[in-house]
Amino acid sequence: MLLMKRMIDLHSHILPGIDDGAAHLDISIEMARIAEASGVTVQACTPHILPGVYNNTGPQILLATIELQRRLDEKGISLRLVAGADAHVVPNMVAGLREKRIPSLAGSRYVLVEPPHHVPLPRIENFFFDILGGGFVPILTHPERLTWIETHYAVFKELSRAGTWMQVTSGSLTGAFGRRPKYWAERMLNEGLVNILATDAHGARRRRPDLAEGRAVAATWLGEQEAEELVLVRPQAILDNRDPSEVSAPPSVADRRWDKGMSGTGHSDEHNRRSRGWRNWFSQTIKSPRANRDR
Ligand SMILES: [Fe+2]
Repeated sequence: MLLMKRMIDLHSHILPGIDDGAAHLDISIEMARIAEASGVTVQACTPHILPGVYNNTGPQILLATIELQRRLDEKGISLRLVAGADAHVVPNMVAGLREKRIPSLAGSRYVLVEPPHHVPLPRIENFFFDILGGGFVPILTHPERLTWIETHYAVFKELSRAGTWMQVTSGSLTGAFGRRPKYWAERMLNEGLVNILATDAHGARRRRPDLAEGRAVAATWLGEQEAEELVLVRPQAILDNRDPSEVSAPPSVADRRWDKGMSGTGHSDEHNRRSRGWRNWFSQTIKSPRANRDR
């Protein structure tokens, strides 16, 4: 039995009948009960936005989120819902974000962005740089499950260096998606490329909310402190719309060895140097998203 820890899950398809997630309200409620029982206190409702397939919009998602919150309140489920989207890569995403057709996470500067699953887009870096240049922080969803990561790993490292955040799926850590996603999840965690864990839950049976299980695996690999960062501290910073330069960067395995050798708490000088370097690069190269803090 897992000891319950407080967590925030910023990626789920819990809204009923709106995409390939929960097919109807009963499943949404069952998913919410599972999340609540596992220690999740805030759940982001992030349905797909993919023109021609899932024509969801910001206002519609917000209304559906408010309605599901009302149903959960009626049932006495103490889960707080926030709206967002799992926005597939499309042209002019910055315009969509500014016009709120594409909702960011809880109205913050952070937005979930899903690249194509099987085909790498040419110069996909430029797409993410545009979002950063527009004052938003893209969170690239489940890189470990994209089939082209094996041939384009350097792209993900470059995107991370440039300020794109990475969200790994908790089920990838537990092996629910097979050996390859598990390998890439572990490798990215070891190399300090993963900012947050989330469930990307689609139902109450298959692809269910399993953040506690993913957190437990992360804790065995990375230690308690970084596990807490992945499922609570950085997600809370997103909800608070904090400037990414104020948020601790994920440490690499080398940093963690150093930390362990010293006290097992806090970040190493090497980590802090790397973090400062990233912040400097970000502020010098990309327009600061600070202006969007109150958006
Ligand atoms: Fe998703």
